[in-house]
Amino acid sequence: MVDTSNQQIRIIMQKQFRVLGLMAFIGLLLLANCSFADDGYKLWLNYSKITDRTVAAQYSQQLKQINFAGNPGNNNVAKNELMHGVADMLQFAPQITTSGDAGLLVGTVKALPAGVVKNLQAITNDEGYVIKTMNIGNRKQVVIAGKTQTGVLYGVFNLLKLLQTQQQLGALNIAEYPRLERRVLNHWDNLNRTVERGYAGASIWNWHKLPGYIEQQYTDYARANASIGINGTVLNNVNANALMLTPEYLVKVKALADVFRPYGIRVYLSVKFSSPIEVGKLKTADPLNSEVRQWWKDKVDEIYKYVPDFGGFLVKANSEGQPGPQAYGRNHADGANMMAEALAPHNGIVMWRAFVYDSNPLNDRAKQAYDEFKPLDGKFADNVIVQVKNGAIDFQPREPFHPLFGAMPKTPLMMEFQITQEYTGFATHLFYEAPLFKEVLGADTYAAGKGTTVAKILETKPHPKAVTGIAGVANIGTDRNWCGHPFAQSNWYAFGRLAWNANQSSAQIAEDWLRMTFTNNKSFVQPMVQQMLQSRENTVNYMTPLGLHHIMGINTHFGPGPWVNKAERPDWTAVYYHKADSLGIGFDRSSTGSKATSQYAPQVQQLFDKLETCPDSNLLWFHHVSWNYKMRSGKTLWFELVHHYYEGVDSVRRLQTVWNGMQGKVDQEQFIAVKQLIALQLEEAIRWRDACVLYFQTFSKQPIPAGYEQPAHPLSYYRDQQFHFAPGIGGNI
Ligand code: GCU
Repeated sequence: MVDTSNQQIRIIMQKQFRVLGLMAFIGLLLLANCSFADDGYKLWLNYSKITDRTVAAQYSQQLKQINFAGNPGNNNVAKNELMHGVADMLQFAPQITTSGDAGLLVGTVKALPAGVVKNLQAITNDEGYVIKTMNIGNRKQVVIAGKTQTGVLYGVFNLLKLLQTQQQLGALNIAEYPRLERRVLNHWDNLNRTVERGYAGASIWNWHKLPGYIEQQYTDYARANASIGINGTVLNNVNANALMLTPEYLVKVKALADVFRPYGIRVYLSVKFSSPIEVGKLKTADPLNSEVRQWWKDKVDEIYKYVPDFGGFLVKANSEGQPGPQAYGRNHADGANMMAEALAPHNGIVMWRAFVYDSNPLNDRAKQAYDEFKPLDGKFADNVIVQVKNGAIDFQPREPFHPLFGAMPKTPLMMEFQITQEYTGFATHLFYEAPLFKEVLGADTYAAGKGTTVAKILETKPHPKAVTGIAGVANIGTDRNWCGHPFAQSNWYAFGRLAWNANQSSAQIAEDWLRMTFTNNKSFVQPMVQQMLQSRENTVNYMTPLGLHHIMGINTHFGPGPWVNKAERPDWTAVYYHKADSLGIGFDRSSTGSKATSQYAPQVQQLFDKLETCPDSNLLWFHHVSWNYKMRSGKTLWFELVHHYYEGVDSVRRLQTVWNGMQGKVDQEQFIAVKQLIALQLEEAIRWRDACVLYFQTFSKQPIPAGYEQPAHPLSYYRDQQFHFAPGIGGNI
């Protein structure tokens, strides 16, 4: 009896366990299903399973055996990335072999067999690589070769991109090298983890837990950057905290540098000019004072003990209240050269920013950087590079190229773009930045004759020791999808791609990104490439058409604020820039006005100076134009302006329609996220349009033409709207 009942209990329990087991299994399946949902964390390194059977079979055949020449070991990041990427996409682990006929052979030129190397194009650049398909016997072998491990890593990422975008491997012949040496992200991250102009959560640097706790996100950050060739990161805000240079933080900086090093990424720091006073307890920060100079030398020596390959300093001085050499009657070159002297023995560099403007902008803030820096051409030490924003004001949706490009032939200049969308819709608006970057990089300065594009100026070394470079203000934060908006990731991606080579097209970069991030489905990719390419112009239209600029809300820079007429300084108002009055609108920077056009080479000057030749897109940047001026389109300026504002909103509606048709083609979580963001963007675009049109109408005194929908509210409604705690203000901490 006892036995039987025990047996019965056992049977009942077994049944229950089976049920529980089944439930657990179903639970696991559900969980697994959830984890298939794409939350954007993987960025463009999604490595989704390749479902096209023919393609998968071809790739599997080619990649089933991989030979890593020189046996790079288990910690080799290129090897690990490749193994992981292939396993995810093809669902098997390739065999690692030393066999000569493996389908894929990977290594540095030194490690590869001489017989293979002699058939490859010579690699002269340390970061360069080749990928070549070779016929060996009756087998096709793909070879990835780099001069250095970093070159190999870049090659591996390119091969992974080819697989992700489902390209043929049968006849590859790729030879790549970066056109600029320093390709750097600038984080405007504060030590308290706020991010100045950051719209994607907190700073990813968890200073409090460093150096003991290394987040997985640091490695994934390095992977993402290396995949697009970014080789440097400035960890902290240009509005710097001097504490960054203390041992308390340097040990944390070292921990990050150690994570990034295998990915070819060097660490740089923003430094505060007054650090010798603030953390060095000196009485002055005068760059010509010998104690101050010694302090910087000692400090730099100390930094290199923590980080032997430290990149150097980024400095914002005498700008927006930051301390600088001018407080001691010295100039920017005096300040930069002092730091350069300390860094030179370690091969460090100084990236000295030209984003400067006085508290008294006289007649035109746009002229100030040129006025201060042009006379210093040739006066900077060899290891200084002057970092210039793309335009003379401040990362507006459209600005003509900065007049300093082309004006300092003896000084290396570095581009500063803003990836984070301070003035282009935060992380709410779909704004693909590649067309903006390319417009500036491709602009002809005529500095050394026709064809002296901004990109050429960046790439040309004014002296043999000069460094070349480009920086992008990062849009990265702790948001699960890194950048706040799924499409904002494309701006990080495009920045890296264009930093590598400015000749790549915006369309190609968008297409690669869409395929890698979402899907290879053509009915998704093709229309979305078009929408991305159009998106910059959409925002220009509903925010600042025809060359208008700096008409956003005060401080937070959120939303329209063309009426802003009071601020700490006149050039922080909107009226300073649009100058609307009963006669017309726009800032006269021509020879009849502030003469800012005279800062350009004569050919450019002539183009911008005359109303008749100035492109519509920059018209109100350079001219104060009468409301009834006949535009090229035949419309009056007023109608043209209204037309652009309405066109901006209509184009967001078109974007919305296209995106809504994408349900089912992309991951549902991503679909919903973007759908909601576009709805918000549309609301904000309508607010921009209606607020600006109603405000400017108070000067033009002309109607909104028939056929255009009338604004839903009077102007006072928009003026009174408040947006407390709009994100992005970090403070100097
Ligand atoms: C803009 C931005 C500031 C930033 C500054 C800079 O003015 O609004 O937050 O500090 O640029 O580039 O230094």
